[in-house]
Amino acid sequence: MLNPTTTKTAGPVRSKDRFLVFGKPAIEADEIREVVDSLQNGWLGTGPKVARFEQDFRRYKGWGQPVALNSCTAALHLSILAAGYGPGDEVITTAMTFCSTVNAIIHAGATPVLADIDPDTMNIDPAQVAARITPRTKAIIPVHFAGRACRMDELMGIANANGLTVIEDCAHAIETAYRGQPAGTFGRFGCFSFYATKNVATGEGGLVLARDEEAAARIKVLGLHGMTKDAWKRFGDEGYRHYQVVECGFKYNMMDLQAAIGIHQLKRIESNWLRRQEIWQRYTSAFADLPLGLPAALESDSRHAYHLYTVLVDEQKVGLSRDRFLSAMTAENIGVGVHYQSIPEHPYYRQTFGWNPEDYPQALRVGRQTLSIPIAPNLTDEDVEDVILAVRRTCNC
Ligand SMILES: Cc1ncc(COP(=O)(O)O)c(C=O)c1O
Repeated sequence: MLNPTTTKTAGPVRSKDRFLVFGKPAIEADEIREVVDSLQNGWLGTGPKVARFEQDFRRYKGWGQPVALNSCTAALHLSILAAGYGPGDEVITTAMTFCSTVNAIIHAGATPVLADIDPDTMNIDPAQVAARITPRTKAIIPVHFAGRACRMDELMGIANANGLTVIEDCAHAIETAYRGQPAGTFGRFGCFSFYATKNVATGEGGLVLARDEEAAARIKVLGLHGMTKDAWKRFGDEGYRHYQVVECGFKYNMMDLQAAIGIHQLKRIESNWLRRQEIWQRYTSAFADLPLGLPAALESDSRHAYHLYTVLVDEQKVGLSRDRFLSAMTAENIGVGVHYQSIPEHPYYRQTFGWNPEDYPQALRVGRQTLSIPIAPNLTDEDVEDVILAVRRTCNC
């Protein structure tokens, strides 16, 4: 192992031409071969590889009715519609998430209601959820932030006591489990993302794991224009098939080109998880003496997906702001990210819902201090040491 404090002292940690891209997907020869096979067999759109990917994903999670779509945003949107919620209904979610969790609620015509986070785990605080329930509340969308499981026993208790549907946003949490139970299997729907930076990457892609067959069938229909089931087969080798439009749906279907990548990504999901766990542990020991806020200790009864490694930059302790930290890391040619500014900091939501960021103080503070460093399985040991050196230099340590 290189000693990060004694090497590479002149110039940036990495040269510009070796800029370490944040979240670069780990694509191997099998994915490339499978995509080429799809290109050669001519079935580019939704087809047999999507069906295979759905079954492989179901086998991995060991539960549920899978429907592959073109994004997790689509999965969230259609789950809310399939649950029957819309105008006049309130859906509670976290103030610390990607905008699409909230947008999906709005697209369904329902009203988003935010709950603040637990400052240690950065996950939705069940007490804050309970405090925001009204007679119009219909659902809760917890987000397993960074891959850490939400307190699902408390959230399910609140949901059951109030007759609410739980839709889990598992965009970061394919491998996550809470007390032995996989994320995405607690509520009525689990929604997953296969966006380019996610733990299973298909470029763009998503999937709903539904508890009941009826809801899964409706999501399948809604995801392809509202056309009757199996309409995707209409140009197949069995000859043309008529379909009927039974409701006004959306163009949310996954393509075989995407599933071709996903099938092989899924095969390496556990070895990739082990590599990210190794990197997580290396960062945690390498940063122990720094004035940064590190991720909370892992819960012994849960499984973290190690999707994001976030540090908190408190200007009072570090001597520079989060945004200056971001710039310093970029100058070292290390790609970094921000997950996320709190939802009420964005002007659209403030203007539309009158939300005040100060009313969600934990999410506000985290959103202003957080910074994500690379934790992809394809990082070499040298890449990891470069990240560590860049972080230490930026902290002046
Ligand atoms: C927490 C969370 N929810 C939802 C999404 C949306 O996923 P997608 O890009 O597949 O629509 C993301 C994507 O980054 C996310 O991080």
